Amino acid sequence: MTRLAGKTALITGGARGIGLAFARAYIAQGAQVALADIDLAAAQRAADEIGAIAVQVDVSDQASIDACVNSTADQLGGIDILINNAALFDMAPIVDITRASYDRLFSVNVAGSLFMLQAVAKVMIAQGRGGRIINMASQAGRRGEALVGVYCATKAAIISLTQSAGLDLIKHGINVNAIAPGVVDGEHWTHVDALFAKAEGLQPGEKKAQVGAAVPYGRMGTADDLTGMAVFLASPDAEYIVAQTYNVDGGNWMN
Ligand SMILES: NC(=O)c1ccc[n+]([C@@H]2O[C@H](COP(=O)([O-])OP(=O)(O)OC[C@H]3O[C@@H](n4cnc5c(N)ncnc54)[C@H](O)[C@@H]3O)[C@@H](O)[C@H]2O)c1
Repeated sequence: MTRLAGKTALITGGARGIGLAFARAYIAQGAQVALADIDLAAAQRAADEIGAIAVQVDVSDQASIDACVNSTADQLGGIDILINNAALFDMAPIVDITRASYDRLFSVNVAGSLFMLQAVAKVMIAQGRGGRIINMASQAGRRGEALVGVYCATKAAIISLTQSAGLDLIKHGINVNAIAPGVVDGEHWTHVDALFAKAEGLQPGEKKAQVGAAVPYGRMGTADDLTGMAVFLASPDAEYIVAQTYNVDGGNWMN
């Protein structure tokens, strides 16, 4: 259980859900972890529970990104692994999408990931010991959905940025890859379920039941279903893997 011994990891959106599950798995493998979240109180509670540190960040704000990256590098003695995980969800039919929703999602999901990646890559290049960057994409980035146009577009952008950054940064020994989950139960999907209930006239929980039944594996995923891939991509075993996006989705999508 020491595949990440001596490594330091910064996880955005780490206060709950998938980011927090990754943090637990990384700590179990010997890494030191910073949970960076817009909700500092939640991040601090989680950090105290699992033995991490908490750092405030709003990934849609450049000054906040810079402060978070500097503070994490100072407190942990550098950054070896970044998980670009913070993201927002929204949905609307194409004719009802608002500029405000578009701007909010692209600012957090796309600009947030790109400029966090950039800030951490600069630290990694200065450290001169390479690094690993894992972006959180989604099956939503593999194909559009009638009611989820903006979120799907942000996740397609993450897959593209993973390819570009992966190709550019490997010369510094920085491997950039992404994970594309399918449907993962948790607070995020409880919010999604409520939005679908309103949009499609469903009962609370009905959309979750539908999407779970449609997964070839037979159920929705859990955050813990994704931790194996997150540890693998950060480990020495993934040294030769560059610019890829891996589906971890119970068989929902194949490419
Ligand atoms: N849950 C799923 O089914 C699913 C499926 C595919 C992809 N994903 C992706 O996985 C990642 C994690 O998903 P999750 O289900 O754990 O989400 P979540 O909503 O449970 O957690 C997101 C975290 O990000 C934080 N956050 C939001 N805005 C922020 C900002 N501006 N700056 C910093 N932190 C901010 C929130 O406070 C929260 O702690 C996301 O990128 C999501 O798009 C999730």
